[in-house]
Amino acid sequence: MNSEEFEKISEFVQKSSGIVLSQSKEYLVDSRLKPIAEAHGYEDVSALARGLMLAPEAVKLAVTDAMTTNETFFFRDKTPFKLFEDVILPEVAKARRSTGKIRIWCAAASTGQEPYSIAMLLLKHKRLWAGLSVEIMATDLSPSAIEKAKQGRYTQFEVQRGLPVELLVAHFTQDGTHWIVSDAIKRMVKFSQFNLLGNYGSIGVFDVVYCRNVLIYFDGDTKRQVLASVRKVMKPDGYLVLGAADTVIGSNGEFERAAARGLYQPVEARKLREGGQDVPSALAS
Ligand SMILES: C[S@@+](CC[C@H](N)C(=O)[O-])C[C@H]1O[C@@H](n2cnc3c(N)ncnc32)[C@H](O)[C@@H]1O
Repeated sequence: MNSEEFEKISEFVQKSSGIVLSQSKEYLVDSRLKPIAEAHGYEDVSALARGLMLAPEAVKLAVTDAMTTNETFFFRDKTPFKLFEDVILPEVAKARRSTGKIRIWCAAASTGQEPYSIAMLLLKHKRLWAGLSVEIMATDLSPSAIEKAKQGRYTQFEVQRGLPVELLVAHFTQDGTHWIVSDAIKRMVKFSQFNLLGNYGSIGVFDVVYCRNVLIYFDGDTKRQVLASVRKVMKPDGYLVLGAADTVIGSNGEFERAAARGLYQPVEARKLREGGQDVPSALAS
């Protein structure tokens, strides 16, 4: 693949997903797109690059999907989940006593380990949200990641990464060399495909948003645009959880750091607290 062909692919991928592919990723692009070129009858990756703009939608989708990095594991980085148990869930459950509903969004859920980790914590702390209903919406751009997430079927290696053995025993059943998430956990999570660059009009409003380890793939403008869109679908006293390497620096100032590293709230949350006000019921509902 020459530099012009690489440019065609990286322009397309950035437009369709926000993911920036630097020139150093040329080898990665080549190895990931080779099977797609073969499967769709292109002579090689160069031919795929040259024909991409006029390619059928299925080819374009496959190219975008192939360029996503779906690295994830159960309870990744631990702190975001400790914060969920110690700060986010108690606070949100208290604030939503009157409305009866907590909505959580995992906005780059990959193959499902992140939302399933949250679901396990919700079951562990059932008493905290007794009388309320909880919904976890889990989305990702990658259709193949979402398909795997829906199946909830993981290898021995995947369950060994981060999942405490007592949770494995409590919430999974063994199927040969794989482990399958229980129906009780599966029922708590609704998976669907969603592009963070897309239209947020129909997804509703959330109390908690996990948007971890995805902003790092975007350029400054895209990150700003995504954070502004995420803010619009959050309650003013909600919580945003970012990855260890993500920050809100360079955004339009919608969020500020909350109790701990990686945890953010809309700036309105502080104003509401300082004013000694409860969140107005119209906003909280
Ligand atoms: C490295 S994984 C992070 C998974 C999980 N949040 C974690 O921290 O373990 C990044 C995910 O972001 C998804 N992604 C990339 N661009 C996206 C976009 N524009 N919209 C939605 N998801 C996107 C990828 O498909 C991938 O599954």
